[in-house]
Amino acid sequence: MQVIAVASGKGGVGKSLLASNLAIALAENNKDVILADLDLGGSNLHLVIGQKPSSTGLGSFINNPKQKIDDIIQDTDYKNLRFISGEGEVPGAANITAPQKRKLINRMTSLQADYLIMDLGAGSNNTILDFFLLSGCGVIVTTPTLTATLNAYLFIKNVLFRMLYGSFNKKSPALDYLERLRKDGVSLQKVYLSNLVEKLRDLDPAGADLFEEKKQHFQPRLVMNMLDNPDDLQKVDKLIISVRDYLGVNLDFLGVLYRDEFQKKALNSRLPVVKYKPGAVVSQGVYRICDKILEMPIEEEINFSNLDAETSYQTAELEAESDFNDKVLSLEELLHSGALTQGDLIETIRMQQYEINKLKKENRFIKAKLVKASDAGFQV
Ligand SMILES: Nc1ncnc2c1ncn2[C@@H]1O[C@H](COP(=O)(O)OP(=O)(O)OP(=O)(O)O)[C@@H](O)[C@H]1O
Ligand SMILES: [Mg+2]
Repeated sequence: MQVIAVASGKGGVGKSLLASNLAIALAENNKDVILADLDLGGSNLHLVIGQKPSSTGLGSFINNPKQKIDDIIQDTDYKNLRFISGEGEVPGAANITAPQKRKLINRMTSLQADYLIMDLGAGSNNTILDFFLLSGCGVIVTTPTLTATLNAYLFIKNVLFRMLYGSFNKKSPALDYLERLRKDGVSLQKVYLSNLVEKLRDLDPAGADLFEEKKQHFQPRLVMNMLDNPDDLQKVDKLIISVRDYLGVNLDFLGVLYRDEFQKKALNSRLPVVKYKPGAVVSQGVYRICDKILEMPIEEEINFSNLDAETSYQTAELEAESDFNDKVLSLEELLHSGALTQGDLIETIRMQQYEINKLKKENRFIKAKLVKASDAGFQV
C-alpha cells in the first residue's frame, strides 16, 4: 500500500480538497483507496465528500482499546473508495499519547488497499510530522501567499528535524546534544541543519549516516493551490530553491490548482469537485496530479521517523518554543536570500504570535486534562 499524507504548514490552503478529490480520482482509475481524516481535533473531511455522519471513527478507535480499525472503515458512495472519519470526540493531534499514536500508526499502515490518503491537520506538531513521515512521498500543499510558502518551508524543516531525532538511538550522545539544543532556544537559532548534522556526526557517525540515508530517500511533493495567475508560479521556484539550498531536499513539484468558483458550488452541494464538475479547471488539475502519482513507482517501505525513539512526553509549550525558534532561524535564512521584505516580516511575526497563542491554549488544555486525570487517581 502506498501511503500519501497531505500536509501543510498553514491551515486553509486546500489539503482536504486535494486529499478527497485525489482519492476519488485514484479510485476512478480502479485503485483500491482508503481516505482517512487525520486532522485530529479539526476533522471535516466527511463534509467534503458528502459522507453521512458516523458514530464510529478515529475518536472511538483512539479512546476505546477494544475498537478494531476494520470496524471504523466506512463504505462511500464512490466505487473503490473507503473512508475513515475523524468523528466527534477526537483529541487534538497535540493531545494524543505516544502509545495511542503508535497503535494508530501500526493499524493504519497494516490496512489493505492500493493507496491510503491521509488528510492531516495544519502545523508541525510531532504527531503530524510522524504521520507525514510514514512515507517519503507525502504531499505539501501551499498557496502563493508568503505566509503559506514560508510555512511550507518550515514544515519541511520540522519534518527533517523530526527525522534527525529519529536517526539516533536512545543512548546516543547526539541525542543528548539535540535535547540540550532544543531546550536552549538561543543556540538552536544559530544552528543550520547541515552544520548541525556535521556536529552530530562527530558524536555519532552511524546515526548521522542513517539520517543522510533517510534524507536521500525522502522525496516530498509540492502542490501549489489557489493560483490566480501564472506569475504565481515563481513562488514555486523560490520555495523549491530555498528547500534545496538550505535544507538539502529535492521537492518534487506535482502541479498547480487554480482558484476555481466551482469548488464553492461543489462544496455547497456536498460533492467533491471532480464529481460535481469533472471539466472544471480545479478538477482537471487534480486529474493531472493523479496521473503523475499513478506513473510514479510505488516506493519501498522505509522507517523515516522512529516512534520507539520518543524520549519524553513533550508538552505543547515546549513544542511551541521550538517551533518558534525554528521559525526565527528560518526567517534568518530567508532574509539572507532576499526573499523577505519588511512587510512580509511584520505579517509573519503576527502569524507567529497567533500560532504561539494557539499552542499555549492547547497546553492549558493538556494541563487541565492531566489535573483531571490525577484527581481521578489515574497514573499519568
Ligand atoms: N482551488 C480552489 N479554488 C477555490 N476554492 C478553494 C480551492 N482550494 C480550496 N478552496 C476552498 O478553500 C477552503 C479551504 O480549503 P480546505 O478545507 O481544503 O483547506 P485545508 O487545508 O484542508 O484547511 P484546514 O487546515 O482548515 O483543514 C475551502 O472552503 C475550500 O473549498
Ligand atoms: Mg482540512
